[in-house]
Amino acid sequence: MKNFLWKNHSDTGKRTSNRIRKISGFLSILLAAFFIAGCVNSGDKKEDTDILLGFSQIGSESAWRIGNTTDIEQQAENYGVNLMFENANQKQENQIDAIRRFIAYKVDVIAFSPIVEDGWDNVLMEAKDAGIPVILVDRDISTETEGLTTCLIGADFYEEGVMAAEYLIRKADRIGLTEVNIVEITGTENSTPMRQRQAGFADTIAKDERMHILESIDGDFLKSRGAECMRYLMETYGDEIDVVYSHNDEMTLGALPEIEKAGYVPGRDVIIISIDGGQEAIDVLKEGKINCVVECTPKLGKEVMETAIKLKAGEKVEPVIHPMEVVFSDEQDTSKIEPRGY
Ligand code: AHR
Repeated sequence: MKNFLWKNHSDTGKRTSNRIRKISGFLSILLAAFFIAGCVNSGDKKEDTDILLGFSQIGSESAWRIGNTTDIEQQAENYGVNLMFENANQKQENQIDAIRRFIAYKVDVIAFSPIVEDGWDNVLMEAKDAGIPVILVDRDISTETEGLTTCLIGADFYEEGVMAAEYLIRKADRIGLTEVNIVEITGTENSTPMRQRQAGFADTIAKDERMHILESIDGDFLKSRGAECMRYLMETYGDEIDVVYSHNDEMTLGALPEIEKAGYVPGRDVIIISIDGGQEAIDVLKEGKINCVVECTPKLGKEVMETAIKLKAGEKVEPVIHPMEVVFSDEQDTSKIEPRGY
């Protein structure tokens, strides 16, 4: 958070010697130079907005999440938005406590990335009663009362599932698979990306008779859980597995060594499909051990700040903002993929 207090310095000296005047003249030039350099270096930094934004982040479970936190902080700085940031360490009750603190602090706008979809009615009603607008970032919620939030800024997770499945259908056609056995490692149960990535994928493969899901298992978006799930899946299904569809890079990176330990080469013996597009997964895609990564961008900070500024000004905002996302895969020249920045 930025400093809210400004210190005023009064002039205590009655007479200033020439020498001091010369030094202060020099210092003024120096300060002016710093000021000009600062203006030039700050790029498109906007004026300070006098907005206090309370943001509750889910945790630090993945490179994606860490990239998202960094982006929110950088864009708050860039837009001159004062940020009260709270990390919930993967616990919904911590997010609810954080939102209550934001209300008590009388922030202008609240934004949060809900870990799961249910259980927000009471605290959001408190925010509404306090007249504080709420932005959903990254994930959606499901409430009994309507109108508790102003908008959602986040990926179209259903479409990500569709893109993953469409890649698989193209791949199966290309290499001539007649039966395709899939294991799915899903994200946090009852979270929007888990539900929608599963639904988009399932709805799309349902149109192709070759596709069968052997099992879907909860990996909670964590690398350690991805490894545990994969170990279990290898023990249970072994060489029946043609495809691993994993809901995020972190779980994929946990799963790959387990496939290798079982004696298979990921990317060749087993088709690997992941979601996020962080640098580490893209590097593994380039090595050929992942076949496809559907992008999910964590760079939502710009839209969040612009929306917070509009809400403070009492302006209308778009109810849903989805970023543009692409697919990285072995269908392209992967050496041309630009550094990802997260
Ligand atoms: O909600 C977005 C998901 O959450 C990302 O795919 C995952 O990596 C993160 O933990």
